[in-house]
Amino acid sequence: MVNADEIAKLCYDWFNQLPRRGKPEPGREWTLLAAVVKITRCAKSGTVDKEVVSMGTGTKCIGQMSMSPSGDILNDSHAEVIARRGCIRYLIQELRRAVSGGGDSAVFCMADQKGKWRLQSGVSFLFFTSHTPCGDASIIPMTDSKAQPCPPVPSVKGHGGTSIGGKRKADEPNQGGNTKIPCLVEQETGETRLEDKEDTKQPYFLLSSKSGNLSKSHLPETAVETVSQASAQLEIKTTFPSDTGLHLPVPDIHRTGAKCVPSGPADPLQAGVGYHSTGVLRVKPGRGEPTLSLSCSDKLARWAVLGFQGALLSHYLQEALYFTTVVVGKCPYSEEVMQRAMVTRCSHVSHLPAGFSLCPPVLLQSSLEFPFSQAQIKLRHQAGHGRISPCGAAISWCNVTDEPLDVTANGYKHGITKKALGTPKARSLLCKLELFHSFLSLVSATDPSALPDSLRRKELQTYWDYKQASQTYQQAWQQLRSQAFPLWPRSNRDLLLFH
Ligand SMILES: *[C@@H]1O[C@H](CO)[C@@H](O)[C@H](O)[C@H]1NC(C)=O
Ligand SMILES: *[C@@H]1O[C@H](CO)[C@@H](O)[C@H](O)[C@H]1NC(C)=O
Ligand SMILES: *[C@@H]1O[C@H](CO)[C@@H](O)[C@H](O)[C@H]1NC(C)=O
Ligand SMILES: [Zn+2]
Repeated sequence: MVNADEIAKLCYDWFNQLPRRGKPEPGREWTLLAAVVKITRCAKSGTVDKEVVSMGTGTKCIGQMSMSPSGDILNDSHAEVIARRGCIRYLIQELRRAVSGGGDSAVFCMADQKGKWRLQSGVSFLFFTSHTPCGDASIIPMTDSKAQPCPPVPSVKGHGGTSIGGKRKADEPNQGGNTKIPCLVEQETGETRLEDKEDTKQPYFLLSSKSGNLSKSHLPETAVETVSQASAQLEIKTTFPSDTGLHLPVPDIHRTGAKCVPSGPADPLQAGVGYHSTGVLRVKPGRGEPTLSLSCSDKLARWAVLGFQGALLSHYLQEALYFTTVVVGKCPYSEEVMQRAMVTRCSHVSHLPAGFSLCPPVLLQSSLEFPFSQAQIKLRHQAGHGRISPCGAAISWCNVTDEPLDVTANGYKHGITKKALGTPKARSLLCKLELFHSFLSLVSATDPSALPDSLRRKELQTYWDYKQASQTYQQAWQQLRSQAFPLWPRSNRDLLLFH
């Protein structure tokens, strides 16, 4: 059993010693942090060694329209996805060490199937994230202790200058507690925020009836837009006037900006706990448009069945790689809801091919908060220091010899000029194309006699070909898709034909 606080501290300290580039502007910008930690247990000495092998920050996701058919752009830059992709770079390097002989890898050793590798005994991987993953895991019932006083609401139209984000008058009493109007409070565990929409964001909306009906027809159009498009997580606290004049709090939930996948039913958007559907697949919000990228809750649930190694590395591995533990930093959190989002949704999946199994992670929360979380930045923000916003850059660090740091913005290398867009210089080392090339160099480094059978077919050319040829991975995915996630959007083959 690992200590959640120890893991959180290890990760925050690791973040601190990374270079400045791509980090949030202190006191004004926030970001999300995730990491993959390698745990090595030595049976002989009884020691447990913990080492960050990949770390990611980032809050953004790029919309479908700007997605590239050459695989040279990072479409999803949420910290969890960045950390996992950096981990793939790290694993490719370790496999390279392993295939070039000499038992050089601290991670992999030869497995009994030809051309396949497995983890060294005592080695496992843990996933850390500074916040509850976006999507299903973020739809958390509110507890009274978490409810916050609402700022006074002047009038329906009085939303103009009153931005809750950052300027919330948290210290002001709730004007005698008689405010009959529910308020909407942005909460800390943010996801992608639409920077360019923040000005039009409306912090409040009104209930038109005592029933607490928040259906669209009862809302001013702009408020509906806020609810459906604001991509930051929202917390809504409602107080309904009752006939006796008592103001009883109504149970409510934290909300996610990730919308239900387009092919499925939408959220009911009812007041309080009836706002969201639970246990469903969701897509990340992007700049004004939903993206094709699934929420981090969905991706973590998928990794718990298919492993986090992906289709390409499955060629080399006898068994999928699973995170044994998921640690979340201090933020709104519910173990029950995490369990639903990460585990229960897939716990009935059967008929997985050899090498795959249901490996639900141990779920832990730390009491230590990431100093650059949205909540921390709000607490420390001073008037006149600019608007609070999510940091636009994404940092990846992973333990590889060549270019361990990869800082990006908008899916390309940070600071790249417009002219360089589309050139190799602009590419993130985490983009599909670069990971594919890195994988191909592993294949070339493998002695032909030691190649796994699935890579011996001559006709393999494109990224798509190599992924499809990973047969057991594809079989496992078919089982998972048909039994648990039939609405998971199919990847567009035309976007994966690069080589
Ligand atoms: C809310 O209002 C809508 C539209 O007026 C109506 O169809 C729906 O039944 C109402 N729901 C509740 C819970 O009152
Ligand atoms: C990017 O978009 C594709 C196609 O919609 C999707 O399959 C893929 O998972 C996305 N990539 C990331 C890193 O989320
Ligand atoms: C990176 O990994 C190597 C072993 O592969 C290890 O010796 C080294 O300490 C690691 N570096 C860091 C900074 O963790
Ligand atoms: Zn996310």
